[in-house]
Amino acid sequence: MTNQAAERFKIYKNVFDEFTLQTLFKLSSEDHFDELLSPIMIGKEANIFLAETKDHSYVIVKIYRLASCNFNKMYSYIRSDPRFMSLKNRKRLVIFRWVQREYRNLLLARERLNVPTPIAFSNNVLVMESIGDDRPAPQLKDQTPKDIKGFASNILKQVEDLAELGLVHGDLSEFNILNQNEKPYFIDFSQGTSTQDPNAEEYLKRDLENLARFFRKHKFELDANAHFEKIWKQIKRGRH
Ligand SMILES: Nc1ncnc2c1ncn2[C@@H]1O[C@H](COP(=O)(O)OP(=O)(O)O)[C@@H](O)[C@H]1O
Ligand SMILES: [Mg+2]
Repeated sequence: MTNQAAERFKIYKNVFDEFTLQTLFKLSSEDHFDELLSPIMIGKEANIFLAETKDHSYVIVKIYRLASCNFNKMYSYIRSDPRFMSLKNRKRLVIFRWVQREYRNLLLARERLNVPTPIAFSNNVLVMESIGDDRPAPQLKDQTPKDIKGFASNILKQVEDLAELGLVHGDLSEFNILNQNEKPYFIDFSQGTSTQDPNAEEYLKRDLENLARFFRKHKFELDANAHFEKIWKQIKRGRH
């Protein structure tokens, strides 16, 4: 790593591996952000940071961890076998493709939906617009909408629009919808897949069931099955 990179991100040297530090440095030297500020969330696969740009606006930097516990254990048993030296690289490639897919999904979704605008990606790092005013907007689970019915129908409209664009979110829930000033924003498109994917039907069903479960808690009945049938019919019609 260059001295400059080491200097710039040295406070993170115990948090990220050297490869990730280099990737962060590359993206910041391309002016996508200047400094990482506070960590927002340590997720299952990624760490999410708020970052500041040179012109003092905010972006979100989503950093996929290259090592997961299971993988490390498995890897430790195989790393000394010279025939399997490329395993680490193969795992990395999957993560890079995962990041690229999330970027592409956001790019497509933003044509019709409220989603963060993707800004850049490189290797295991994705930079996107931060949804929120001076701080990131709350997740739906932490900020109950004032108009539950209106909020729910806005969400359903966006699920339909997404299907028309040829995508299913696949991980839709009160965790991955933000309540930004009473408007729903969809985030976390890493599992988003094509409506042609053999798993699309199952994902769409699950997304709608998750929504129904959340809204039921807030005394609003959303007929997951009816909405699924309607949207799935539209998807199939679009295929022919
Ligand atoms: N673009 C964004 N704007 C504001 N907050 C965000 C944004 N992206 C992520 N977050 C916050 O970080 C959390 C985790 O991000 P997410 O993409 O869902 O990662 P994970 O895959 O770990 O669930 C979100 O639930 C949300 O609170
Ligand atoms: Mg999430």
